[in-house]
Formats: sequence, structure tokens, C-alpha cells
Amino acid sequence: MLELTDVTKQYRVGEQTVRALDGISLRIEAGEFTAIVGPSGSGKSTLLHLLGALDSPDSGSIRFQDKEIGDLDDDRQSEFRRHQVGFVFQFFNLLPTLTAWENVAIPRLLDGTGLKKAKPRALELLELVGLGQRAEHRPAELSGGQMQRVAVARALIMDPPLILADEPTGNLDSKTGASILQLLADITEQGNSVVMVTHDMGAVRYCDRVINLRDGQIGSIDRVERADDGRIRTVPAELSESVPEQDSEDAANSESADDAGAVRA
Ligand SMILES: Nc1ncnc2c1ncn2[C@@H]1O[C@H](COP(=O)(O)OP(=O)(O)OP(=O)(O)O)[C@@H](O)[C@H]1O
Ligand SMILES: [Mg+2]
Repeated sequence: MLELTDVTKQYRVGEQTVRALDGISLRIEAGEFTAIVGPSGSGKSTLLHLLGALDSPDSGSIRFQDKEIGDLDDDRQSEFRRHQVGFVFQFFNLLPTLTAWENVAIPRLLDGTGLKKAKPRALELLELVGLGQRAEHRPAELSGGQMQRVAVARALIMDPPLILADEPTGNLDSKTGASILQLLADITEQGNSVVMVTHDMGAVRYCDRVINLRDGQIGSIDRVERADDGRIRTVPAELSESVPEQDSEDAANSESADDAGAVRA
């Protein structure tokens, strides 16, 4: 669905140049729940922004359904952001003066649909995230987990094939976080793809695949396997499967074995 080839992104601040992304190649398939993990500053948010066309790469190719995103004009790019991508942020980004259902309906409003017309679907989605009873509440009248569920419902209202989430559980207690993760996992069961940046290795159990970033490069890619007894383990992915142009030497150097230990417990 989404394919990145040799993507780079640098930031220049004064005299200094930061290589935020340094040759990223990967594929995001339909119906896949992908986690992006890695140390602070390794390029996770930068990668997510490029996936959602919130920013553009300095070099390399990002293709969505076989179209180069960078070749689209501004109107087509914002259409891509509105229709193909739903964003969920760490700090929810809800509008404080609007009710829960109005917040969910906002993307439809920007698309020229009246709020009233969007209401039935907004209410349906609030029901889906377990907030049917809170539709008329404003953000200040909701808990953190409830606000994040409103944000997930908002990300779904345009029915986008791709959901991008940057630390969606970063500000939630572990139980509330787990319910958000389950919700995102359920979404992928419907065929949508979710790409989630997370610091929480416990979140990995909900995912199909884990991409480890190190200094703007892919350190390793692991598949998450679930045993019948509910235990999970991570297995290094066939690099050829997900990273078209990485050579086998890189595969041998990957540190995926260590990472596997961290989540196997
Ligand atoms: N707008 C910017 N201007 C300059 N440098 C930036 C900008 N955004 C990010 N960077 C730099 O690019 C690198 C990658 O940043 P990024 O935000 O992608 O990291 P991250 O993996 O999301 O980190 P964290 O886990 O702390 O959120 C960092 O070294 C950061 O300092
Ligand atoms: Mg970040």
C-alpha cells in the first residue's frame, strides 16, 4: 500500500545538519499493525510525518498505491492527507470548545460536509470506541483515555486506509493504554493499516511487525508471532520481504535477537 525507498530527511539548524532519516526503505501492507520503536531522536516522528505527507523527504521515493506522493500538487497532497490518512497524536489535539461528537466530525466539516450531516457517523464511531454515552461532553469533561478514544474516532471518520499514531498511549495509564491498543488492533482486522510510534515495548504484543530505528536508519524489522497460549515472540523478518534493497550483511548485523528477548517475557 505504501512503499518507501531510500528515503532521507535532514534538518539544518544554524551550522548544524541533523540526519533525521538516513536511507529508509520499507513497505506498509494493508491490514498490518506496525510499531516503530527506537531511542529518542532516532527519527520515529519524522518517519511518521513523511508517511502522512505532513512533511516531504529530501531524497528517495514514497509511493502510495503506486503513486509518488511527492509528485502530487498541493491540492492532491492535502486530499491525500484528508482522505487516505487518519492521525492520532500523543496530546489528543481536540478542540476544547467542541463536544466529543463535533470533534469527531471535524474532518468531514473541512471536507465540505455540514456538521449535522456528519453527526450520525460521528455517533456511530463514538459508540465503536465505547463513548456513546459521552457524545455531548467537551474534552475538559473527559478523562485522558476517553479523549484519546475521541481522537481515534476522529481519525476514522473519513474511513482512511492508513492510521498514523504517534505515542497514542504515551499519556495514558497502562489499562487505558491497553484498550486504545486493542482498538487500533481491531481496526487492522477491518483491513486498515496502522503505523504507531511507541516507547512502550508492551505495546508490541498488539502489533504484527516492529521496526527498530537507530540514528535514522532501520536497525531491524521483526515479526510478532502469537502462540496458542497467548505468549508472543518476535522473529527477525525476512529483510528481503520488507526492505527491498538492504544487503545480507546488514541483516547479519541486526540486533533483533536482543530486541526479541525484551518482549518475549
Ligand atoms: N523541526 C526540526 N528541526 C530540526 N531538527 C529536528 C526537527 N525535528 C526533528 N529534528 C531532529 O531530528 C532527529 C529525529 O527527530 P524525531 O522527532 O524524528 O525523533 P523521535 O525518534 O521521534 O524522538 P522522540 O522519541 O524523542 O519523540 C532528532 O535529532 C531531532 O533533534
Ligand atoms: Mg517523536
